[in-house]
Amino acid sequence: MSCRRSVCVLICVFCFCCALGNVKHTFSIQELTVSQKELMDCGKQKKLCVTSSDDCLYTASDGVPQVPRTPEYFLNTSCHYLIQEESLTCRWTQTNNIKSQTISFIFSRAKDFNHCPSILTIYSTFNLTIKSKSIFSQKEQFSDIYPVIIRDIIQAPQPLISSVDVTDSSINVTWTSGENPVTKCKIRYKCLNSESWTETADLPSSVESQFVIEGLQAFSVYHLRVSCSHRFGRWSDWSNETRVKTSESLPSAAPSLSYYVDSDENSRNQQLVLLWKALDVTDAQGLIQGYEVSYMPIKQPSLKKTFHTTHLKVIVPVRSEEYEVSVCAYNSVGCSPHRRLTLDASRTHDVPALKSLWVYSDGASLWVCWEHEFTVVNVSEFAIEWSGTTDREHSRWERVTGSTFTARLPGIEAQQKYKISVFPVYESLCGPPASIFADLQHGALLDLDRFRLVNVSRSSVAVQWTWREAEPSVSVRQYRLVLNGPLETRTLTVFPNKQQHLFLQLHPNTRYSIHIHGETTAGNFSKASLDVSTLLLDYDEMLRFAIPVLLLLLVFGVFSVLTRTICREYFFPFVANPRYSLIGRWLLDPHLQVKKSDKFFSCCKGSSIDGNGSICTLKLDRVFLPEKSVIQLERRVSLSDHEDVLPLKICASAGRTAVEDALAPSGLPEYVDLPLLPESLGYVQTG
Ligand SMILES: *[C@@H]1O[C@H](CO)[C@@H](O)[C@H](O)[C@H]1NC(C)=O
Ligand SMILES: *[C@@H]1O[C@H](CO)[C@@H](O)[C@H](O)[C@H]1NC(C)=O
Ligand SMILES: *[C@@H]1O[C@H](CO)[C@@H](O)[C@H](O)[C@H]1NC(C)=O
Ligand SMILES: *[C@@H]1O[C@H](CO)[C@@H](O)[C@H](O)[C@H]1NC(C)=O
Ligand SMILES: *[C@@H]1O[C@H](CO)[C@@H](O)[C@H](O)[C@H]1NC(C)=O
Ligand SMILES: *[C@@H]1O[C@H](CO)[C@@H](O)[C@H](O)[C@H]1NC(C)=O
Ligand SMILES: *[C@@H]1O[C@H](CO)[C@@H](O)[C@H](O)[C@H]1NC(C)=O
Repeated sequence: MSCRRSVCVLICVFCFCCALGNVKHTFSIQELTVSQKELMDCGKQKKLCVTSSDDCLYTASDGVPQVPRTPEYFLNTSCHYLIQEESLTCRWTQTNNIKSQTISFIFSRAKDFNHCPSILTIYSTFNLTIKSKSIFSQKEQFSDIYPVIIRDIIQAPQPLISSVDVTDSSINVTWTSGENPVTKCKIRYKCLNSESWTETADLPSSVESQFVIEGLQAFSVYHLRVSCSHRFGRWSDWSNETRVKTSESLPSAAPSLSYYVDSDENSRNQQLVLLWKALDVTDAQGLIQGYEVSYMPIKQPSLKKTFHTTHLKVIVPVRSEEYEVSVCAYNSVGCSPHRRLTLDASRTHDVPALKSLWVYSDGASLWVCWEHEFTVVNVSEFAIEWSGTTDREHSRWERVTGSTFTARLPGIEAQQKYKISVFPVYESLCGPPASIFADLQHGALLDLDRFRLVNVSRSSVAVQWTWREAEPSVSVRQYRLVLNGPLETRTLTVFPNKQQHLFLQLHPNTRYSIHIHGETTAGNFSKASLDVSTLLLDYDEMLRFAIPVLLLLLVFGVFSVLTRTICREYFFPFVANPRYSLIGRWLLDPHLQVKKSDKFFSCCKGSSIDGNGSICTLKLDRVFLPEKSVIQLERRVSLSDHEDVLPLKICASAGRTAVEDALAPSGLPEYVDLPLLPESLGYVQTG
């Protein structure tokens, strides 16, 4: 139950809202015009005249039909009478929502009517009731009683504007009204784009009248309407609107002119670039047909040159001297005031070119955006010039204020490639342009390419890329260079003037990823990316750290070697005593005999220096020589013939200390000082 009730409540609320909504939207202007012949008598009901015989059923007493009235359905009722047509017209605002209805007038009077059609005359008075009846529901609504005095509601006929004559500042209007003469008229007019009308005072008038409206703007469209009145009664409806355009007059202002001097390296070829702004519509006072440009060197007035152009920019060759330049705009009437400039072509310009320029397409139009450095000279305006590459002659121009850094270019055609240039303008000076190529399909005809790492250090990373003339696959609104690290993200916009970037103040030994993002109307994409880790130490830091350490090690090494040598030589000199050594004792033995068969020697024939000698090797017991050590005894002559020369070599390639230790059981000496041998015994050489 409760559920049903709530549904009902909801429905009721909905209906109420609908009803309110309907009430709001059912105001409609109703109008009915009756003329004499439409009026009829009601037989015995002499106090009524009707437009529909059904209405004779109502009884009238005291000049008023006895009916239930709902005046709230008939708002702002007004009636007027036209003499010429002998017709009565009433208009009202209907507030109920009746789709199909019949409307009729009921005329009543306290005094009997004699002849109904003749009540629509100038001196007639009566009471009027308006009745509306719905065709479907047959429901009837009656208005309030309106007492009518025809003389007071006579309305003059709508006048007709028959002709207009214009000058650049005035309109001569001629109009006619109906046959019955009107006594006064008024004109109202407004400029095409303005909202409010300007009305003249009442003008004495007759059947045909004329009036000159003065003080108008040249070359402007005006709307005109006229209304008239008889001596008494109401003002007529406004005449139908007439449109008229005032004629051209002389342009009222001089074009604003700026210049820069463009010189190549050998400053002989100088060019003066003159740039001016199209006149505002209000200043142009007509269709500007062209510009008259003249320039002359101040010192040689005879070299003055004058020419006409339809462009907003001209380039003329000049020499390094002072010039006087003048420009004026002309329309069909004549030339505007001249803008004159005196300039010194030897001075370089002060307004720098734009820092960067980019253009992108949103599919329907091209958008230009730029960056400009703020310098001592503030830019007051930017002048944008664009032209199709196949039609360089027809440039279009747009000017924006100095605080604007983006502009939409209107009228861009598909399939056409454009060159877009932006000039910074500061009063009479301007800067050289920055230019870029673009089309509607690709946006800027530049693509970002070859993104790479060029340098990395402990706290910085340098990346580089190039710009290539190409048709990119998608129009990029802007490129952004993004560095992502564990602690931070840095982002900057990348324009074609930028080809590298150095990220500073990074953390050492940290991994970063660097991307170039392309931003499009549909979304963002990654154009290129790379990962990089900053170094723990910089190369020069490493050098700074390593060189002292190496030097220190070197010094320490040298020092330790020196100390050892000095200690040995001066504090612990070693004097060898051969008697402690077995080999020494053997070598000192005067009865030294070496036999081939001796267990200490093995001799090999034919390997001595002279070819027929022998090498005899003294085989020492392992007790006093390590494995790889040999003592070599060599005889220059055959052992069997002479036994006088016997060179002796002790080869102790490794473990000398062991040999010496073995040879000197005392353990003190670290090497062997062999005693001098008698000549007959040859020599001993340490290995
Ligand atoms: C009736 O006329 C008055 C004043 O002219 C206006 O403010 C009002 O909105 C009109 N009412 C309707 C329902 O049109
Ligand atoms: C119109 O009706 C009023 C009563 O509402 C009456 O006094 C008046 O006389 C009537 N007017 C005429 C012209 O009969
Ligand atoms: C205005 O136009 C009418 C008709 O063309 C002409 O007779 C009249 O002299 C004009 N008035 C002025 C002030 O030009
Ligand atoms: C005004 O214009 C309407 C329609 O635009 C036309 O029916 C009517 O006749 C015109 N009135 C005059 C006086 O020209
Ligand atoms: C440039 O503009 C700034 C801020 O609008 C102003 O303070 C400064 O004076 C201007 N400089 C020149 C040279 O006009
Ligand atoms: C790389 O960066 C370091 C530190 O910033 C700098 O000293 C060095 O000159 C740079 N090398 C190159 C090739 O740019
Ligand atoms: C694209 O990137 C910019 C800046 O990085 C961001 O403001 C924007 O929301 C991104 N757009 C989309 C669609 O992701």
